[in-house]
Amino acid sequence: MDGNGRWAEKRLLPRSAGHEVGIRTLRKVADKCFERGIGVVSIYAFSTENWKRPKDEVDKLFGLLKRFFIKELKHMKQNGIRLAVMGDLSAFPADVREAVENALRETAHNTKYVLNIGLSYGGRAELVRAVQRLTAAGEAPTEAAISKYLDTAALPDPDLLVRTCEKRLSNFMLWQCAYTEIYFTDTPWPSFGEKALAKALEEYAARTRKFGALS
Ligand code: FPP
Repeated sequence: MDGNGRWAEKRLLPRSAGHEVGIRTLRKVADKCFERGIGVVSIYAFSTENWKRPKDEVDKLFGLLKRFFIKELKHMKQNGIRLAVMGDLSAFPADVREAVENALRETAHNTKYVLNIGLSYGGRAELVRAVQRLTAAGEAPTEAAISKYLDTAALPDPDLLVRTCEKRLSNFMLWQCAYTEIYFTDTPWPSFGEKALAKALEEYAARTRKFGALS
């Protein structure tokens, strides 16, 4: 969801206004994806590196996150959306963690769609966690075993990664994106609407995926 800050600064608004509009975009885009038959939508909401931001911005993000998990619960329950989280919630304020854990519990039996949110998430930290779990279980380090111990164990690898405003992975789903198609756009996340999504999906549909083979 990159470009929230720049979107706001360009309009002489506080960065938090960009994040607020970014959340509205998230809801719209996730629902459009579900409508179009995409079963799993993963979102990078707060990275392990985002802790380096000024405390004021981090606190505002926590406030928005908490509100989102409380406000969106009804919508998720009514529409068969299961919430999943990747990352390490342990350093989050207790009230935000409770809101997330409650939403996880309340949507656990939904089976139509998955909204997977990265919270204090980093691909490298996730891999370390997976290797630690695997070692503790005494298993041999095969690709299947590592995948099984990732935070995303129950989810398929992403088919398409949409990257707004930047042209780098920024520590996002490093293992899972090995063969993911990447779509770059200069459109900042708050402006990424239905049309922009349709364009990304059109470009994805025109790509040939060979996963390293010749055909
Ligand atoms: C990237 O834009 C956005 C973030 C680092 C935070 C996004 C998180 C939220 C909007 C909180 C709520 C999330 C959910 C899932 C409810 P940026 O700040 O890096 O923008 P910039 O690169 O233009 O400065």
